[in-house]
Amino acid sequence: MGTALVTGATAGLGLEFAWQLATARHHLVLVARDEDRLDEVAGQLRAAAGVDVEVIRADLSVPDDVERVAERLRVTGEEAGETRRPVGLLVNNAGFGNRHRFVKDDLDTQLQALDVMVRAVLVLSHAAAGQMKHRGRGAILNVGSVAALLGSGTYAAHKAWVRAFTEGLASELRGTGVTATVVAPGLTHTEFHARMHADTSGLPEVAWLDAPRVVADALADVRRGVVLSTPSLRYKAASAFLRLAPRGTVRAIARQSRL
Ligand SMILES: NC(=O)c1ccc[n+]([C@@H]2O[C@H](COP(=O)([O-])OP(=O)(O)OC[C@H]3O[C@@H](n4cnc5c(N)ncnc54)[C@H](OP(=O)(O)O)[C@@H]3O)[C@@H](O)[C@H]2O)c1
Repeated sequence: MGTALVTGATAGLGLEFAWQLATARHHLVLVARDEDRLDEVAGQLRAAAGVDVEVIRADLSVPDDVERVAERLRVTGEEAGETRRPVGLLVNNAGFGNRHRFVKDDLDTQLQALDVMVRAVLVLSHAAAGQMKHRGRGAILNVGSVAALLGSGTYAAHKAWVRAFTEGLASELRGTGVTATVVAPGLTHTEFHARMHADTSGLPEVAWLDAPRVVADALADVRRGVVLSTPSLRYKAASAFLRLAPRGTVRAIARQSRL
């Protein structure tokens, strides 16, 4: 039984990570902004799975909040008087979409997205990798997106950064007992699109994945030490096409597929 820290654990993929990890007998540290939801989820997980659940209320666009989470990740279990367990799996999952065009959008919103989906991932991965390398075991799972392969705005750019960063981290950690994996889901039923007020009514059902499937595939790939994880055959094929197609074609597809 290990301990996993999941960011964005109050909804969607993060909530599903929490449930699947608790069912697999992991103790949990849940991170998000909504304190009521965090407490509710923690209570349900403790009652249903009998695991220990800590909560950290943190806005990952705020550097001081990110540092409080990083401090939790640095716990090795060797510190005098420390009762908290070291984290063996970090899931950098928190994120959000933005359907506004970059030039017209408010710069603060753009910077907030960069802070949550890039800066926080970097800081938390640094804290976790140091502690895990010291202990000679652990895993980091970063939630990217198939959008990383599209040239479509800052969200795609953040997820392309997550992908390149995770690949580099995996290479650096090779042979240390610590692994790094990036999962690149396609469209998945969560709160993501409603939160960004996107109209998804025109998208065919075949384009959608379910969170339990995405999370189960991602965790299976973490256990196998896979670096690039793409849930579902459909999105494996779509990703292969996007990698091989001329970039002009990919940009044209991205322009058409803006939600
Ligand atoms: N759904 C998709 O189609 C899809 C596809 C590819 C990749 N992804 C990626 O999957 C990840 C999870 O998204 P989801 O689809 O599960 O979305 P979701 O259902 O909207 O959940 C997002 C989670 O992130 C948390 N969060 C958002 N901003 C935060 C902040 N500033 N600080 C701390 N926590 C924050 C939210 O909790 P609070 O509001 O309580 O803070 C919530 O728990 C994201 O990285 C997203 O980019 C999603």
